[in-house]
Amino acid sequence: MSAMTFTARDIKDVDTAGTQCAIVPLFEGAKLAGAALKLDKASSGAIKSALALGDFSAKSGESLMLPGVGAIKRILLVGCGESKSFDRAAARKFCHQVYRALESKQATTAMLHLAALELKEKEAIWTLTYLARHLVACAYRYTETLSKPKEPWKLTRLVVNTSGALPSGAAGNALRQGRSIGIGVNEARNLANLPGNICTPSYLSNRARKLARNNAKLSVTVVEEKKMRELGMGALLSVSAGSDQPAKLIVMHYKGGKAADKPYVLVGKGITFDSGGISLKPGAKMDEMKFDMGGAASVFGTMRAVVDLGLGINVVGIVAAAENMPSGGATKPGDVVTSMSGKTIEVLNTDAEGRLVLCDALTYAARFKPATVIDIATLTGACVVALGSQATGLFANEDKLAEQLLAAGTDTHDRAWRMPMWEEYQSQLKSNFADIANIGGPGGGSITAACFLSRFTKDYSWAHLDIAGSAWDSAPKGATGRPVALLTRYLLDRAGQ
Ligand code: BES
Ligand code: MN
Ligand code: ZN
Repeated sequence: MSAMTFTARDIKDVDTAGTQCAIVPLFEGAKLAGAALKLDKASSGAIKSALALGDFSAKSGESLMLPGVGAIKRILLVGCGESKSFDRAAARKFCHQVYRALESKQATTAMLHLAALELKEKEAIWTLTYLARHLVACAYRYTETLSKPKEPWKLTRLVVNTSGALPSGAAGNALRQGRSIGIGVNEARNLANLPGNICTPSYLSNRARKLARNNAKLSVTVVEEKKMRELGMGALLSVSAGSDQPAKLIVMHYKGGKAADKPYVLVGKGITFDSGGISLKPGAKMDEMKFDMGGAASVFGTMRAVVDLGLGINVVGIVAAAENMPSGGATKPGDVVTSMSGKTIEVLNTDAEGRLVLCDALTYAARFKPATVIDIATLTGACVVALGSQATGLFANEDKLAEQLLAAGTDTHDRAWRMPMWEEYQSQLKSNFADIANIGGPGGGSITAACFLSRFTKDYSWAHLDIAGSAWDSAPKGATGRPVALLTRYLLDRAGQ
């Protein structure tokens, strides 16, 4: 399935330029001007008449589909509320309204007359970026394991008329960025939605190889269990010990910058199914633990967007993939394992497995001499208790990195919230039998998990994103593709693009 296409053009002949749907956004109480006025005239005053009748008053969240005229098959009026209160939230609402109005229609093309709003350039740019991303994401259908595929959305092409008011280059760039982010979000959702019997660590490594195919800037290497043993990755290996599926450490290296530029490293938790291991989880909703590779999925999605955008920076995506299962060979509570860093870990609970695969991947990350390292993980139920599904939990050992990530989250409405990682929490991880325990007791579970990881990330700027709540929706059940938008924005900002 190829994603929708977008183009920005300065269209002069608004009343005759053929489209299956002309989209006219309007502010409350504003006088019709530009394209809106031309379309009104062409349609014998249909827009003015709708306003006069009170059928449509341009309030935010309102829309009205009118019959078209000539080559313009339909005219969609979309309310944007009061012009003085048009902010990112209103822009998002506008984008959602566009989808809602076209969702069930047969239109395959549409033309957005954005200039009718007379937005400032900055506002127009984030509206277009969000619109392209939103429409691409709305077109996503999960079909992999259905015998009858779902009906696809008909719309495949959107033209944005800049009316000369907005540089077509900047508008095109915004659309391109939004589209790439949407494609990345869908990649993450699709991988996370796949069931555990299909999406195994081996499946993920094949997916990475596929992503690198025909791509000179992207190379993939997979560290197999034998090599992990040589590297001393005893923590990672302790998680896959009970599974018939071998663990894979997948490394995707994107070289878009100069050879000497330090890479931005993303590390994803890729537990393709988390049964809890010997510390078996309760049965209810255990199926949701197929989403426990949501962090890995977001690394795939972000890499996909980075490749698609051809960013001028170096990025390394690392996925620590394993399945957490009970068996005769499984790691047991009380077992002590040695991590790649040399630190010994007492595995008091085999269900705290995410930090075990991550700690070795984070130690491995140091070899890339990273500019920053960001790990993404469905790490703790405690994070869901603390923040629900709205915010991703953010932990960092450097304020600048934390602020940059928070800003990227705000910009993309893929928001994170910073959590404390004070020294005082570290003592909860004390063990009598190893350097560190893998659980920190009942209080502050997402914080002690982050503290555990912090023991392995002392040599570089590091942030940890706990997406246990934000990575999926429960009704309808499905992956959200978060935080691909946040991460891609963060990388776009670093690339100055
Ligand atoms: N994958 C889970 C975390 C999780 C729970 C994600 C619910 C999404 C929804 C993780 O591996 C886990 O089991 N964490 C334990 C840690 C505990 C044993 C210290 C948890 O949160 O209960
Ligand atoms: Mn677990
Ligand atoms: Zn887990």
